[in-house]
Amino acid sequence: MATTTTSLVFVASFLVILAQGAHHCNVPSRFWCDDEEIATRCGVLQQCQEFEWTETSKKVEFALYYESLCHGCRDFINGMLYPHYANLSSIMNLTLVPYGNALERKVGDKWVFTCQHEKQECIGNVIETCAIAIVKDTTKYFPFIHCMENSDENPEEAAKKCSTSIPVPIADILKCSKSEHGNKLEHEMAVKTGALQPPHKHVPWITVNGVHTSAIESDAMKDIVKLVCDTYKGPKPPVCKRSGREVTTIANTG
Ligand SMILES: *[C@@H]1O[C@H](CO)[C@@H](O)[C@H](O)[C@H]1NC(C)=O
Ligand SMILES: *[C@@H]1O[C@H](CO)[C@@H](O)[C@H](O)[C@H]1NC(C)=O
Repeated sequence: MATTTTSLVFVASFLVILAQGAHHCNVPSRFWCDDEEIATRCGVLQQCQEFEWTETSKKVEFALYYESLCHGCRDFINGMLYPHYANLSSIMNLTLVPYGNALERKVGDKWVFTCQHEKQECIGNVIETCAIAIVKDTTKYFPFIHCMENSDENPEEAAKKCSTSIPVPIADILKCSKSEHGNKLEHEMAVKTGALQPPHKHVPWITVNGVHTSAIESDAMKDIVKLVCDTYKGPKPPVCKRSGREVTTIANTG
């Protein structure tokens, strides 16, 4: 009995030494598929690729439902979402829905919107909606929307000023915002917002992979990098190394 235990311990320690010596894999197994570098060190790259990272191409779906003149929305966009967007864009698909607490009703064949922060907010919403529809590429229209949300001017003036430093087709965007097409596009934002389950209770309202909970939302407000990195199933990009969880984990075991 004693001999069996001793030899088992011996074999086990030998295997551990072998594993560590061969690959310098000094990370608990639950982190082996965290990124390609660790997976390679731990000799499980192929297994991670085959069984863990099968949804690598699936970015985290992050959606922000907001309205153009709300302070909380501006604070979140300017203080959290925009500063981290560039570093997260390889693993996060951002959807912006500028409508928020607005209401709509149909008059003839047009939609008439009523906004929480009055007429100017409705103008801001539709300008941003048109920018999204016309520019299409998030990495190009988000800097423009961020600039508008960071401005004290009324939305149309803000849009014009922002277009001098951020290349967007401003004439087309403003024309759209006053057109039937823009009116339809803003109605689509109303429909998207109205389809939320659970229905939104405030703005900004956040969903991650289509899900809203108050915990997810407060995590996003506190540290969007950590939230998106923890949610992402593929190998973690460098930005995730700086998020609290991994830094402490690796420091503790290393
Ligand atoms: C984004 O990543 C770069 C390079 O890794 C880093 O220097 C920068 O601080 C990051 N930005 C933010 C807002 O954390
Ligand atoms: C990002 O989300 C939009 C919906 O808002 C979707 O149409 C698009 O296919 C998604 N893109 C990626 C790369 O997942």
